[in-house]
Amino acid sequence: MTVKFFDLLRPVLASRMGYVSRHEKLTMEQVREMILSEAERNSQEWRSNSIPNLNYSKTECRLAYLYIVAAANANTFKWILSNDEKLKQYVLDVAKTKRRLKVCALGAGPGTELMAFAKFLDEQTLGYPVRVDFQLLDLVREWQDSWNAIRDAIDAHFEAQHGVDQGKWPIMPTGSFTQQDVTDTEGMSNLGDIWTQDLFVVNFLLSELFKDDPDFHSFITAVAERAPSGSRFVFIERWGPMWATRMKNCIAKAGIKLGEFTESKESLDSGERPELLGRSINSCQEHLAEGDEHRD
Ligand SMILES: C[S@@+](CC[C@H](N)C(=O)[O-])C[C@H]1O[C@@H](n2cnc3c(N)ncnc32)[C@H](O)[C@@H]1O
Repeated sequence: MTVKFFDLLRPVLASRMGYVSRHEKLTMEQVREMILSEAERNSQEWRSNSIPNLNYSKTECRLAYLYIVAAANANTFKWILSNDEKLKQYVLDVAKTKRRLKVCALGAGPGTELMAFAKFLDEQTLGYPVRVDFQLLDLVREWQDSWNAIRDAIDAHFEAQHGVDQGKWPIMPTGSFTQQDVTDTEGMSNLGDIWTQDLFVVNFLLSELFKDDPDFHSFITAVAERAPSGSRFVFIERWGPMWATRMKNCIAKAGIKLGEFTESKESLDSGERPELLGRSINSCQEHLAEGDEHRD
């Protein structure tokens, strides 16, 4: 039973929808409607060709993100980990020599980088667990809730696969969340030295900031000055020359040595089927009772 992003997300969505239903006194159907209409609104915002007007502090906004975006973004990052040979070699070398990887996710959101690493390390069949310590930076503190739920779903997946002995699991994730605006370089002075990672990931953050923001350049420059020598930065963005130029501008300003640009494939990994989520969004209660029926 391989890791599938939609499989991981199903219990996350189901349990969070149940939580909203109980604590906001809404029926599951009302919660479902709320998520679907927010998903529609957010899709329009992302296509608006301006700063997307999103409010991730709202539960329905975060749940809509889990429903329509998280699997795709995790898939893209995992594709890069698997297909950029230099990056893959670097990550595997650190994992092999230290049995531990330290990853900083800027604009971390719900835990997509964690999902990508869980699937990537599972596929590598290294034969030992790698502890992956995430330093998560995001403006929106409320994302912690889904990060923890995704971590729990990953733990449950590997426990079902290999039993409770974590020594047999491919990944043991830990996460530390810091609320931080990535355009506020002065604010960094309150954080101390949290910049000790092997890998820094900027996954679909630029398009959220939208403009080619000099304050963000300054922030990344300050992170790069503090990052361990030899550490790697990965920037992932939408397709197109405008985003490529913005990534290059930021990287050049920060004095990071530019590696190769890679265009990822557009399709999801084989076996990833959005229908795996379907029941949880359509009839959550039923799904909770039925457990693993959708796994293959
Ligand atoms: C499109 S999401 C990407 C999330 C995740 N990296 C992924 O690929 O799924 C953008 C994230 O950036 C965060 N964000 C937006 N503006 C930010 C800012 N100025 N400082 C820190 N985080 C920010 C949002 O809260 C959101 O979690």
